[in-house]
Amino acid sequence: ADALKIGVAGLGTVGASLVRIISERHENLATACGRAITVTAVSARDRTKDRGIDVTSATWYDDPAAMAREGDIDVLVELIGGASGAAKDAVNAALERGIHVVTANKALLAEDGVALAALAEEKGVLLNFEAAVAGGIPVIKAVRESLTGNTMTRVYGIMNGTCNYILTRMEKEGLSFEDCLKEAQRLGYAEADPSFDINGNDTAHKLAILTSLAFGCEISCDDIYLEGISNITQDDIRAAAELGYRIKLLGVAQRTGGGIEQRVHPTMVPHDTVIAQVDGVTNAVAIESDILGDLLMVGPGAGGDATASAVLGDIADIAKSRPGAQTVPALGRPAKSLEPYKRAR
Ligand code: HSE
Repeated sequence: ADALKIGVAGLGTVGASLVRIISERHENLATACGRAITVTAVSARDRTKDRGIDVTSATWYDDPAAMAREGDIDVLVELIGGASGAAKDAVNAALERGIHVVTANKALLAEDGVALAALAEEKGVLLNFEAAVAGGIPVIKAVRESLTGNTMTRVYGIMNGTCNYILTRMEKEGLSFEDCLKEAQRLGYAEADPSFDINGNDTAHKLAILTSLAFGCEISCDDIYLEGISNITQDDIRAAAELGYRIKLLGVAQRTGGGIEQRVHPTMVPHDTVIAQVDGVTNAVAIESDILGDLLMVGPGAGGDATASAVLGDIADIAKSRPGAQTVPALGRPAKSLEPYKRAR
């Protein structure tokens, strides 16, 4: 089969990891997918920056939307981030053109995911976003595919690596909030604007996506109760420890009598539970459903390689898909087996 041609928009931490991995594992990927995966186009803001990767064989675009519209590509991989602007324009342009999109952009999906998924469906292309929630953990696949037929009752977990990294190092090493945040930024975990991490918005974006998939309701970030970790002090952490708890920033979505309740806030978790013991940039997502029972997935939640691993899985799915093959349900469209729930206000 012909090589699958990839256009990568955004060459930050994740984009650079992805390009490097595709080049290093070219043979492996070709064997696994039955066809080669080739980066034929790239787009980023600064053409001169040294990213430790070789993109000389790819066509450079200053404008990612132009790459999406005109590039010699089969798939747009959007790793720019942000709910509006360049990322949104590029994704829309690609879908309008009828090419597949892989994105790690939780903010964009939380805002426009339902419309984008509908557009992808109309155009008969795939919109894959495994990397948008919990980094490298295959949670989207689990909810969207593996748990088909289950009725989910609760989805919750640690979904922001930066916050968990900060809380862990504050607790275990007594470091200040600011120093931990700086380190998380240096390691490539934090958002471009880290207030999205520490205020809980990033967790809310991810939770909104999971809620939509798990419960078949429309995405609505406004319905999420939101509280971040910026007010957590060493005293809070110590007081919790004395009572046998650790403080974790959790995102929780669950069925209640009144609808789907969604919340994001620092939570005291008993220290002998698995979730309490999840340290550093690691994420954990728990899914409670009626056929399977309780599922808990723990793994790397942020960072270049972990996120690129999920992006690569999404690309591989496209490489292996055949025209006319069954596509997965669109985001936010209630599956027939699930009754629509009113959201909690
Ligand atoms: N800033 C995010 C985090 C990146 O720390 O989890 C992964 O989505």
